Amino acid sequence: MDKFLGSSVTKKFVMAIAGLFIILFLLVHLGINFLLLIDDPVPFNSAAHFMANNVVVKVFEIVLFAGFLIHIIYGIILQIQNWLARPSRYKKTAFSQTSFFSKYMIYLGIIIGIFLFIHFINFYFVKLGWVEGDHENFYGMANDLFHLPLYIVIYLVSFLFLAFHLNHAFQSAFQTFGLNDRYTPVIKKIGLTYSILVPLGFSIIPIVIYFFK
Ligand code: HEM
Repeated sequence: MDKFLGSSVTKKFVMAIAGLFIILFLLVHLGINFLLLIDDPVPFNSAAHFMANNVVVKVFEIVLFAGFLIHIIYGIILQIQNWLARPSRYKKTAFSQTSFFSKYMIYLGIIIGIFLFIHFINFYFVKLGWVEGDHENFYGMANDLFHLPLYIVIYLVSFLFLAFHLNHAFQSAFQTFGLNDRYTPVIKKIGLTYSILVPLGFSIIPIVIYFFK
């Protein structure tokens, strides 16, 4: 298995690259989603239409999904390897912030995976024709969705977990690249800023739609 997938270091490296790619994707996704906040549906629907039909974006989407898949599969394998390497549970471990968050990364990841599945049912599977809906009017669909309190809660809670996942992911990726020592304080600050602002930006969308549209 290891011969095929590489050593733990290789796995962490590939996972970090895939993670950074997802971090970039989220910025673009958020930028486009802000168009949902204006009253005119045309800009958002045109952007969604462009994203759905442009060849470069389609290639990007394949790389993105490959990135997600690699990130998830390697994350699960690394977690299992960690569990196997530490069969005995220590009664008392010294508290360390890093180990505290890394311990929960797998669970945060699973919750985000469940969110993504729900999110795909809401939008992406509509585009593929697997779920009923008007894929030419994602603006209208988002407006309908975010008038349902259940979905507001699902999305907002998921963004909170996303914030914790991203914060640790950022630092961990740069640690894997060996950049952490010298740049630790800067990377921590960038990571913290990103992991607060991006989920906050996503959270604003359902809240504004629910209360003001
Ligand atoms: C308020 C928040 C969000 C809204 C309104 C939203 C809306 C959408 C819409 C309308 C699509 C379909 C676009 C298309 O396929 O042309 C989409 C796709 C997608 N979303 Fe989101 N999204 C949100 C948050 C997120 C978050 C937090 C993630 C990741 C953790 C995410 C990951 C994806 C992915 C992977 C796709 C499929 C790839 C793509 O079509 O570009 N989304 N989203």
